[in-house]
Amino acid sequence: MAEIARARSERGELVLRRRDDGALELRVNGVFVMDDRETASEELLASAALEAVRRPERVLVGGLGLGYTVRALLADSRLGSVTVAEIEPDLVGWMRSGLVPSILDDARVGVVVGDVRAVVADLPEASVDAILLDVDNGPDFLVYNENSAIYTSSFLTTCRAKLRAGGVLTVWSSSSTEALESAVTTVFGACQVTPVPVRLQARDETYFVYQGSS
Ligand SMILES: C[S@@+](CC[C@H](N)C(=O)[O-])C[C@H]1O[C@@H](n2cnc3c(N)ncnc32)[C@H](O)[C@@H]1O
Repeated sequence: MAEIARARSERGELVLRRRDDGALELRVNGVFVMDDRETASEELLASAALEAVRRPERVLVGGLGLGYTVRALLADSRLGSVTVAEIEPDLVGWMRSGLVPSILDDARVGVVVGDVRAVVADLPEASVDAILLDVDNGPDFLVYNENSAIYTSSFLTTCRAKLRAGGVLTVWSSSSTEALESAVTTVFGACQVTPVPVRLQARDETYFVYQGSS
């Protein structure tokens, strides 16, 4: 295991490392959040939203990570622009300096360093076609305790108000969560749950994508 970069913020530690199997791995606040070996679910977060909206002119993504969700959005020629809300400035810096393969040089990408809750709250009403949230390992495995507010019907209601008609909210989770399904159903009237089989360091796992449409 070789450490590539390490940074500390008021929330905790951010570590980027190269595993012995060659994978690039990101840990946030001591928690494994992802690697560049198994990225199917991060990409499916994007494709589920892209399939559900007619014209993805403006998209908001919560959580930059290693950039796989954003990269999958950029592969769709219909995409107008995507704003990424990322709370850790050092991660954005590592991507800008090339320590993490960058998606930031695409003119359609904008980055806001901040908490996705504040970034969504600042959006004008009915201004985006999709909001994609992947900031934790899901509501049951938070990287920061404060993120628990993201999965409540109160914040999901704020998200809904920022969506244009026909827009979608899509949320990634590493576990099946009835509480999130119920919150999305309460706010959007229905919740589509998509299980994603993944192979994680020689283990078979299932991740989940939750989606509500406005
Ligand atoms: C699992 S990674 C995202 C993976 C990403 N979907 C990809 O494809 O690489 C989670 C990211 O969310 C960020 N994050 C955590 N809490 C956040 C918050 N409240 N607001 C914005 N970003 C946050 C973390 O720093 C990390 O970069």
